[in-house]
Amino acid sequence: MDSVKLPTAPSSLRTQMSPHHFHHLPLPHRSFRLKPVIGITRSRSHHVSPVAVLFREETSLAPLDLPLPRLKVSPNSLQYPPGYLGAVPERASDHDNGSIVEAMEYLTNILSTKVYDIAVESPLHLAKKLSERLGVRIFLKREDLQPVKSFKLRGAYNMMVKLTSEQLAKGVICSSAGNHAQGVAMSAAKLGCTAVIVMPRTTPEIKWQSVEDLGATVVLVGDSYDEAQAFAKQRAEEEGLTFIPPFDHPDVIAGQGTVGMEITRQAKGPLHAIFVPIGGGGLIAGIASYVKRVCPEVKIIGVEPADANTMALSLHHRERVILDQVGGFADGVAVKEVGKETFRICQNLVDGVVLVTRDAICASIKDMFEEQRNILEPAGALALAGGEAYCKYYGLKDVNVVAITSGANMNFDKLRIVTELANVGRQQEAVLATLLPEKPGSFKQFCELIGPMNITEFKYRCGSEKESVVLYR
Ligand SMILES: Cc1ncc(COP(=O)(O)O)c(C=O)c1O
Repeated sequence: MDSVKLPTAPSSLRTQMSPHHFHHLPLPHRSFRLKPVIGITRSRSHHVSPVAVLFREETSLAPLDLPLPRLKVSPNSLQYPPGYLGAVPERASDHDNGSIVEAMEYLTNILSTKVYDIAVESPLHLAKKLSERLGVRIFLKREDLQPVKSFKLRGAYNMMVKLTSEQLAKGVICSSAGNHAQGVAMSAAKLGCTAVIVMPRTTPEIKWQSVEDLGATVVLVGDSYDEAQAFAKQRAEEEGLTFIPPFDHPDVIAGQGTVGMEITRQAKGPLHAIFVPIGGGGLIAGIASYVKRVCPEVKIIGVEPADANTMALSLHHRERVILDQVGGFADGVAVKEVGKETFRICQNLVDGVVLVTRDAICASIKDMFEEQRNILEPAGALALAGGEAYCKYYGLKDVNVVAITSGANMNFDKLRIVTELANVGRQQEAVLATLLPEKPGSFKQFCELIGPMNITEFKYRCGSEKESVVLYR
């Protein structure tokens, strides 16, 4: 085993790790007599997991070549102010960004792509009102204008178009409750192959219906995405179908990378940064693989919801972690675990991750509506929220930034909550709660205390004979 390194794990982490945070420690195939040894170390990581327990064969000191157990963490274990650039990967120098061979492979893959058989070169629009308000020029890369209203068809098609005719004849399968499903279904229709899309039983009818409308076969299985994915992988193996992953494959990543290629062509002036939403990391890994090789001075900044910060936590821990829970509001990026290859690329190439709140995402959906009369889905507005928060946090003026508006498949039922929270996100409105004495004149007195501010909503709940609880906006 490599020598044990003893770096300083942030104090926020030290208190939180314990053996039950480690997921599935696989047992060796041979029947070793195992005994737990040392309470520290994971040689792959620079961090020490204080209480991780590794096993060795009792009779020999040679290490077992076991996959290392995964760290399970809570989103709350890494939080910082909106707009702050956190989770900055440590690299020895600006040139320490991966092997040149891998870099060339991605560049070649992106430059020789066939995604334009099916995707459009989406426009780069200046967000005029927002730019005036912030004093920077914010450009929107309009991936919400793709045929299936998100960038996801780029990656799916880039992988599927490279399948052999035998593979295409057998067909493809994927698991997704969202935009990836539509990307695979549309690519299959274009390539004339069959596609099976496995979705959790809880998927709203509108989503599976739109996939069926594209000619794919929908199978509803299990109560969660994980169950649907396990089923899809098993069926792929049993029936010889090709599994199309949503983000963790070089061809999928390269397909998404075409977004970066277009931005470098379309941008009129020097760019300070490109803000990219992160789910499993395919889009940002692809964009970084192109832009950092061609214009290394442009910052590639990931944006995640504060309660779905898987990439930020993985970069922070310097290894892929699993979230113990994930916020589902921006469902397109509600991912518990980023990809292996996407994580490797992000470690080498991205500049950090900005975290944003649900209210800020809603405010950005409203901004986009006011700007372009288009309704983005929450994941689609994430980068805009991150870009705005970053420019405000660092007081940037007179620079060019790009935010990827990545999707517009809005679930209609979410519109109500978006409109309610949008003003909260812009800090023009607040939801507050207080106790009110149960006696005549209390409400009048309360209104006097509030002063000239408008109350737009008031909820009263009788608590006891002496006090009631009120919620007001
Ligand atoms: C609209 C939207 N934005 C962003 C993402 C995140 O992309 P990735 O998983 O490649 O990070 C997704 C993923 O499906 C998405 O649907």
